[in-house]
Amino acid sequence: MNTKAYIIDVLDNLWTFVDREVIEQSLETPKDKKMGDLAFPCFRLAKTLHKAPNMIAADLKELLEGQKLFEKVEVVGPYVNLTIDKAWMAEFVLDQVDSCAEEGKVFGTSDEGQGKTVILDYSSINVAKPFHIGHLRTTVIGNSLKRIHQFMGYNTYCINYLGDWGTQFGKMLVAYRKWGDPSLVEKDGIRYLVSLYVRFHSEAEKNEALNDEARAAFTSLEKGDQDALALWQHFIDVSLKDVMKVYELLDVQFDSYQGESYFWDKTDELLRLLDDKKLLSDSEGAKIVDLSDFNMPPCLILKKDGSTLYATRDISSAMYRKKTFDFYKNIYITGLEQILHFNQWFKVCDMMGFEWAQDLVHIPYGLISLEEGKLSTRSGNVIWLEDLLKEAIAKTRSIIEEKNPNLENIDEVAQQVGVGAVVFHDLFNNRIKEITFSWDSVLNFDGETGPYVQYTYARASNVLRKAEWNRGSLEKVDYAALTDEYSQEILKLVEAFPAKVKEALDKYEPYIVTRYAVALAGAFNRFYHENSILNADEADRKARLKLTDVTTRILKQALYLIGVSAPEKM
Ligand code: ARG
Repeated sequence: MNTKAYIIDVLDNLWTFVDREVIEQSLETPKDKKMGDLAFPCFRLAKTLHKAPNMIAADLKELLEGQKLFEKVEVVGPYVNLTIDKAWMAEFVLDQVDSCAEEGKVFGTSDEGQGKTVILDYSSINVAKPFHIGHLRTTVIGNSLKRIHQFMGYNTYCINYLGDWGTQFGKMLVAYRKWGDPSLVEKDGIRYLVSLYVRFHSEAEKNEALNDEARAAFTSLEKGDQDALALWQHFIDVSLKDVMKVYELLDVQFDSYQGESYFWDKTDELLRLLDDKKLLSDSEGAKIVDLSDFNMPPCLILKKDGSTLYATRDISSAMYRKKTFDFYKNIYITGLEQILHFNQWFKVCDMMGFEWAQDLVHIPYGLISLEEGKLSTRSGNVIWLEDLLKEAIAKTRSIIEEKNPNLENIDEVAQQVGVGAVVFHDLFNNRIKEITFSWDSVLNFDGETGPYVQYTYARASNVLRKAEWNRGSLEKVDYAALTDEYSQEILKLVEAFPAKVKEALDKYEPYIVTRYAVALAGAFNRFYHENSILNADEADRKARLKLTDVTTRILKQALYLIGVSAPEKM
């Protein structure tokens, strides 16, 4: 419960003849801090109470006088301005953190998701295609939304919906059979597969027959040719082995890698339903669902040759997911260029009469681009995600070597900070906003960055270590020691944490947690500079250590929720 909710309770109990609803709607936070922490305007009550607003205000003031939780109760015209007692506030907030811990709960968690399963479809790589910087966003947004949902008590089921079907596999089969060198696959993995694919395209420009061969090869795959299937599976294995390295660096996991290939031939039920509902129409031999009533181009269901499309497979897989998991929400995270695709097939589900169509959620995000000339690349014009992360780690390592050469586990910390910096930067803004990637903004240790928050965490941890503070201690402290403006700023943020996570979940916006972490780190740094902790007298020292402890725990938790780790030393 936050302070405001508590005060509503207090008012409601004391003021028996006023409706709780009116209290809830009236209590406000004044714009000017000098007016107090909360204000209660009384004019709304004038009619029901048959009294002038300023008289009501005077009555209310009398009622509240002597309540320990207010430092000051003041009447200004029709308003009662309330200033909360600072020591009371410190005790109120820290008690809640402690009582969560006593119950074995993490502060801020909730059970709102109990019994509900949320499916998250993210990263969803394309086999034998580059896993490049553009895939960073879906991967880290998905991972953060997963953690936020789990924090709020939801079951999550995470799917890497592989792009492992389509005519490009015919091309891959031909290219591999003609030019493939197993030792190079062994050595260069997915990058080598991509180079074969590129070679196919340039050779096909000179030799049209190759395209016919590719079509035939894909047909053999569809028909279940053993040799073709084995090679195709090999492409998947090679691709997954490579991207796994990136997932490990990012600490990202999936429950399933079931992709498009599973659904390409499981469309009977879908086609029957579409037929029953008379939703299919012919268009030059292809089958489509007309969406002109909804101002959208038609959704393509079957090609002329009877093969399925991206949307067909997505609808089939959504039907499968509903049957298998009875999802509460089925969430897809992709770039905004796919907005139309999702709108189209969501609409088709709705037209088929699926009630769960309203539980399909598309979470789009804006493009990530590079600050010109600042990023090196080893393989042509794609920036492979693995290279980017490795470069971040290397750069971080050299910064640490300069700033803190004696750090023990320098490799581990360089990885946590380097990768964390990239993730943090990605999740710093509204999803839909475009991102320009530049090392200066990612790795800046003083700005609003991952390294800055991590450094604050390490600094606070260091204080606790030096003090030999028993971390997570539930000991009560002298709350009067936490009435200064810097302690109070932290306390207000601590109190706000649960609502921030909830807001991030409701809006599917990890950046709300990222910004929160920056704010809390900033508040802690101000507190740290203004108050001596270790050298303060006993009561102050204890209280400040306790506040430092609570801050570290929440910082670590917030970082976890956006998929960033918190090194103890850096
Ligand atoms: N593989 C697709 C791509 O890279 C993304 C798939 C998203 N998920 C889905 N169910 N359509 O563009």
